[in-house]
Amino acid sequence: MDHVKFTAMKDGDKEDYDFLTHHEIEYTKGTDDRLLTALASLDESLSGYQVTRLGHSLQSATRAERDGADTDWIVAALLHDIGDIFAPYNHDEYAAAILKPFVREQCTWVVEKHGDFQMLYYGSHVGADPEKRQAYAGHMYFDDCATFCERWDQSSFDPAYDTLPLDHFRARVHEVFARDPYDPEVIRPGIRVPLTA
Ligand SMILES: [Fe+2]
Ligand SMILES: [Fe+2]
Repeated sequence: MDHVKFTAMKDGDKEDYDFLTHHEIEYTKGTDDRLLTALASLDESLSGYQVTRLGHSLQSATRAERDGADTDWIVAALLHDIGDIFAPYNHDEYAAAILKPFVREQCTWVVEKHGDFQMLYYGSHVGADPEKRQAYAGHMYFDDCATFCERWDQSSFDPAYDTLPLDHFRARVHEVFARDPYDPEVIRPGIRVPLTA
């Protein structure tokens, strides 16, 4: 059997769906490599800054690592702009959807909202509200997102910074995406881990 028998899903039987489940599990194991390939492709994306989107992503992750942040934070920083490829109007939500099953809820929330928080730094120059973040005032992760943007995101456009290469982060990406999806021990709702040691 190298493919299912059905042409409409409602006609599939248990053999078909057992076969597909096996294939999906095998395919899922390659998520980390596909993400790393996508990240590398950011080197040729949106330009105009002094660093490429890949350079920005690597610099964010490098700053996170040098701040003593844990693996969840470092991988979140590395992938926070991966949505730029296919979702330029909600790149933050797109990246958060990728991370959500595999990192702490805190990190997912911060990645999901970072676009609104970043407005503080340039909203006034583009006719947007710099205080868009105030929509989340009082949220338990508000300060974490503010720190993420201040220390790792808005600051990471410096071509002179000693940024670590993609290979440096591969093992962490493999570790995160090899986790059981939605493992409560990983998601830890409501737990705040500091961004800086
Ligand atoms: Fe972003
Ligand atoms: Fe960014």
